[in-house]
Amino acid sequence: MALLAKKIAIVTGASSGIGRAIALKFAAEGACVVIADTVELPIEGGQSTAALIESSGGTALHIATDISDWNAVDALVTATVTRFGRLDVMVNNAAIYTSTNLIETSPEQWSRVIGVNLTGFFHCCKRAVMQMLAQEPVNDLRGRIINISSQHGMVACPGDFPYSVSKGGIVQMTRQIAVDHADDLIVCNAIAPGKIITGKPGVANDPDALDYSRQRTPWPRLGSPNDVAGAALFLASDMASYVTGINLMVDGGWMAG
Ligand SMILES: NC(=O)c1ccc[n+]([C@@H]2O[C@H](COP(=O)([O-])OP(=O)(O)OC[C@H]3O[C@@H](n4cnc5c(N)ncnc54)[C@H](O)[C@@H]3O)[C@@H](O)[C@H]2O)c1
Repeated sequence: MALLAKKIAIVTGASSGIGRAIALKFAAEGACVVIADTVELPIEGGQSTAALIESSGGTALHIATDISDWNAVDALVTATVTRFGRLDVMVNNAAIYTSTNLIETSPEQWSRVIGVNLTGFFHCCKRAVMQMLAQEPVNDLRGRIINISSQHGMVACPGDFPYSVSKGGIVQMTRQIAVDHADDLIVCNAIAPGKIITGKPGVANDPDALDYSRQRTPWPRLGSPNDVAGAALFLASDMASYVTGINLMVDGGWMAG
């Protein structure tokens, strides 16, 4: 039996990269997946995530959403429930970065990164929990939230101040929701990827950044989006029972060093 049969999931930022891999894996395990992204086509090229899922016989829907906008997130969850009846898994993955240190970061850059990476996650967690509270438990669970944090939410991200601060906040947001909503039978966990090769624009894939990541990573290769998708599948499925408030590292040992 598929691990996510009959489950309804939203994945933010699922048009590209890690979010796309999570959406594809969830769909392959039987979930109906809503792709919530500002754009539809992947940064790395190819078909849209929704088209790819539909062409392999799965069920997917793209809903144009900027997670920094509360009204858009509210409409996203409403549309998901109208179409599919409930929300079992909310994966908060969409994020941006600036590669600027404290001095280089303008107030506008700070507001935008925090607006997406922290306020956007707040919007998605809050709206998801509002929906989960309104639905009946299945197997003693009302719903699951998975927040994509980063190893750079636990140690500094050299030269990227707002990103690193936002990721630290996501780790704490995860613990807070796990504790405050355990009685409501809602679980909330985070996944902290190490260096994952995606088509992300900016300096993330510059040779210097890759060299730095290779030096920091004990495992003999850098990560792939599928590495993170496997961890997300575990946390989204009933295989993960009695697991809440964790920050699961998928980092090739970066944080162990
Ligand atoms: N790639 C890595 O090495 C790495 C490492 C640690 C953590 N992460 C985290 O993993 C997640 C995904 O990273 P990625 O490398 O796949 O990124 P990516 O840039 O390849 O993809 C991000 C997706 O989010 C979407 N997005 C951006 N802003 C949005 C918004 N306001 N509302 C909705 N969608 C929006 C983009 O359109 C894009 O499709 C992020 O949270 C990132 O911080 C990535």
